[in-house]
Amino acid sequence: GNLTCGIDIGGTKIAGAVVDEDGTVLAEGRVNSPATDASAIESAVAGLVAQLVARHPVTAVGVGAAGYIHSDRSTVLFAPNIAWRNEPLGADLSRLIGLPVVVENDGNVAAWGEFRYGAGRDHDDQLMVTVGTGVGGGVIAGGRLLRGAHGVAGEIGHLRLVPDGRLCGCGNHGCLEQYGSGSALVRDTRQAVVADPAAARGLLERAGGDVEAIDGPLVTAAAKDGDAFARARLADLGDALGQGIASLAAVLDPGVVVIGGGVSEARDLLLDPIRAAFERELTGRGYRPEAEIRLAAMGNRAGVVGAADLARG
Ligand code: BGC
Ligand code: NA
Ligand code: ZN
Repeated sequence: GNLTCGIDIGGTKIAGAVVDEDGTVLAEGRVNSPATDASAIESAVAGLVAQLVARHPVTAVGVGAAGYIHSDRSTVLFAPNIAWRNEPLGADLSRLIGLPVVVENDGNVAAWGEFRYGAGRDHDDQLMVTVGTGVGGGVIAGGRLLRGAHGVAGEIGHLRLVPDGRLCGCGNHGCLEQYGSGSALVRDTRQAVVADPAAARGLLERAGGDVEAIDGPLVTAAAKDGDAFARARLADLGDALGQGIASLAAVLDPGVVVIGGGVSEARDLLLDPIRAAFERELTGRGYRPEAEIRLAAMGNRAGVVGAADLARG
């Protein structure tokens, strides 16, 4: 069949896979992300692709990237958390790799993967929310990926949640990402631990007494073991996300909302508070059919599979 390669450039890892037309992963790999250095990211991606295509004849490469991608599907116009400004990522990669490259937003490729092969398969109208370093999104409307006039639709992490709120990497204040991302979880948890170390005793013990050692997986693990302090932090995150999703549902009327990204590994400890806030805030609640809020089905593969599929054209 027609094989393509999908790449997902995340905040900490770059993942890649060779994928066939049915969405089956034939080979995969991952490397650490050089995070902020644009040319180091490109070399790392090219190296990973070279490794993957050595044993599989792929015809094109799809790349999911955490930024605002021009409708040319090559240029990263802007990225709040990576040093990309008008970066010709697709053109550079295509030159390095020697294959056609299609660049799409990371939330969009995850949304596409879940829509085609995962938790959104049974709906034509889906909102995907990825909770990781940032808050990503992807909108499927009437069975099509919503790109907007300029390619940059679906930037749900920068929906304003709190007027005059926290400063965001995008330059605005009060964005959902500052209250609902994995980075927000870590920052808020560390602050809460410092403010009340007695209440956070369990978490501190897990972190070997080092506040800086508290990360997302540690909070999730503690919450799963019943730690009330950790659960409260995830509940705050879920509350922010549920409020944002309610606002988005007012505009989009999705049939299903799919929650993915690393923090979604907390499962119901994140989804229950999301659902509660959504039901509390949704306009017309009680009088309208409501979107079901589900966990992503493809784990961290949604991005690479979605990107590979989009590269097929
Ligand atoms: C960026 C998005 C990205 C999301 C998740 C946000 O800060 O603006 O482009 O999809 O993070 O990585
Ligand atoms: Na998006
Ligand atoms: Zn922002």
